[in-house]
Amino acid sequence: MAHILGIGVATLDIINIVDHYPAEDEEMRALEQRACPGGNAANTLHVLKQLGHHCDLATVLAEEPDGDRLKNLLTQRGIGTDTCQRRSGRTPTSYITLNATNGSRTIIHHRDLPELQASHVANLPLDRYDWIHLQARDTHTTSRILQTLRSRQPSHRPISLEVEKDRDGVDMLFGQPDVIIFSRPFVLGRGYDEPEAFLRGIHKRVPGAILISTWGEEGSWAWASRDGLYHAPACPPPQVIDTLGAGDTYNAGLIHTLANGGTVTQALSNATRLAGHKVGQRGLDSLDISLLQNDGDN
Ligand code: FRU
Repeated sequence: MAHILGIGVATLDIINIVDHYPAEDEEMRALEQRACPGGNAANTLHVLKQLGHHCDLATVLAEEPDGDRLKNLLTQRGIGTDTCQRRSGRTPTSYITLNATNGSRTIIHHRDLPELQASHVANLPLDRYDWIHLQARDTHTTSRILQTLRSRQPSHRPISLEVEKDRDGVDMLFGQPDVIIFSRPFVLGRGYDEPEAFLRGIHKRVPGAILISTWGEEGSWAWASRDGLYHAPACPPPQVIDTLGAGDTYNAGLIHTLANGGTVTQALSNATRLAGHKVGQRGLDSLDISLLQNDGDN
């Protein structure tokens, strides 16, 4: 099993589970409420931890009571937080409406906290990690973090990057990572209505990287250096219960399989299977990891 560093965001998620999506100005009562850690990097590590990896998080935690609470909740999940930076500000908080009838999650996010500094990452004991996963945030900062990682990490230790939103200058990040995961909204926003042509175009610019594009109910695609395009169909559950964190779970399935020496085909198939299983249950706890196959015995 691998020692993995996740660099990105940790939030406090306040989740209201409702029996229908509210109309504007409606007053309604939630069926249930949960508060738990969230944020793409923190969620991905939570799943990787269940898959048996040793996980540390590099994020900014606010120096205030909710920051302490979030730190404790992450620690309870077995995620190392000694690699976090404490700074003054407020804990990033997501107010989430989870529709019990179709599993949709509507997120209103509030953030008033500085971004993680590249200088903080530079001071971490990077040599100990087998895999480093980053969320693309502010392009300038993410680029400096990637440069730090590349200068300090031996080239055989993989770096993966999740590109969820299109931000100014984000393309300049693509030359550094070994694996890049593009969200469907990102690809659609670039004017493509399917992933193949998009991935082919990026591959021409960064031929050495494994490029992934997730496409919801149509599964996911990869373009991997020598071998061209792969596709794994989605694995929908009998009923969609909760889509919150499905993409983060997908990323964990992918990283897990590649870090264990699995092939791109195995990684795609495991990631779609795990994400499909996740949307059939509430939350990210106690995922059934026995459904993963061939993760590393190739
Ligand atoms: C889900 C998630 C939530 C968080 C939000 C942040 O992918 O990470 O846990 O509140 O997205 O944008």
